[in-house]
Amino acid sequence: MASREILTGVYSVGAIDWDRRLFDELIPLPDGTTYNSYLIKGSEKTALIDTVDPTKEHVLVDNLKELGINDIDYIVSNHAEQDHSGTIPKMLELFPEARVVTNPKCKGLLIEFLLIPESKFMTVDDGENLSLGDKTLEFIYAPWVHWPETMLTYLKEKNILFPCDLFGSHLATSELYASDEAKVYESAKRYYAEIMMPFRNSIKRHLERIDNLDIEIIAPSHGPIHDRPEFILEAYKEWVSEEVKNEVLIPYVSMHGSTEKMVSYLIDALMERDIIVKPFNLTRTDIGELAMALVDVATIVIASPTVLVGPHPSVVYATYLANALGPKVKFASIIGSYGWGGKMLEQITGMLGNLKVEIIEPVIVKGYPREEDFRSLDRLADEILKKHKKIII
Ligand code: FEO
Repeated sequence: MASREILTGVYSVGAIDWDRRLFDELIPLPDGTTYNSYLIKGSEKTALIDTVDPTKEHVLVDNLKELGINDIDYIVSNHAEQDHSGTIPKMLELFPEARVVTNPKCKGLLIEFLLIPESKFMTVDDGENLSLGDKTLEFIYAPWVHWPETMLTYLKEKNILFPCDLFGSHLATSELYASDEAKVYESAKRYYAEIMMPFRNSIKRHLERIDNLDIEIIAPSHGPIHDRPEFILEAYKEWVSEEVKNEVLIPYVSMHGSTEKMVSYLIDALMERDIIVKPFNLTRTDIGELAMALVDVATIVIASPTVLVGPHPSVVYATYLANALGPKVKFASIIGSYGWGGKMLEQITGMLGNLKVEIIEPVIVKGYPREEDFRSLDRLADEILKKHKKIII
């Protein structure tokens, strides 16, 4: 990818990764990703904001060459994760006079992960300014976005915020700006769900703080740049708020049809009550889609058969993930079946400790569901509607 000028003296010099399909060997990337890096040329000094994943080191090197960059004074590291920091050693090799500008916590992690010598660093305080001559960088500590050392960099004269992962999206696109907002919204929400959601209380505080800045452009380190920053800021405010939607998420697995029959009946019963239902068959779902649905759903109903003595392993995985992501879901229930006993219900309930949910009476049946079981599912749908009416409708 060639470098592109954003504003006079500010360039996008990162890389597009069209083919990457998995991040952290865990997160599906249906649309690839980008590793954005930005070059800022001041009248006296030049700064590079974050680098790229080591697999794309050659792209960053070529982009800087193409711009005729012979000196870099500062390499700002907003975040120590290797998809942004992994090419710092190469940059230091090419520009040995450069200093890595970051906070003390990030410095420690960069030394541990990348073995960068301590002498290469220049640490900055929260709120500190760094002059490039006619341009000034301000550093804003923003811990737990999603690591403990994260910070944001604000280019004061141009009103550009470089927030690294925050406000980003795993979206490989040739478009520099987020012009297709519907598409970017989906990708940014998926990114928030998978990466940021467990830290929504920290993010809420950071959003309040940056509300005081005059921001015209948000240039994250993944996905397109926001030249209409209110679009992504409003989306984030909604996602981190306590507001939930009149929706029920049903992650399920069925082995011989009993649990599927219950899920199918419950879907109809909830739809009849004008509740939006999002069922996910865990044998074929994209786990990122499930995470996205968790962002604003009011209720989760986990549906599982009994395998040996517990829930189906795919249900265990989805429940573990939901619990770890810590969504603002308010209510939970469990439905499913068993043949001759087991502890499926207790085991699933025991995995929900991180969620501050009220458990609604589960419906667990022996074998195939009968008429009285469908009445229990009707009661479950009634109870969900009653709970939703109290807080949403
Ligand atoms: Fe894009 Fe937390 O790294």
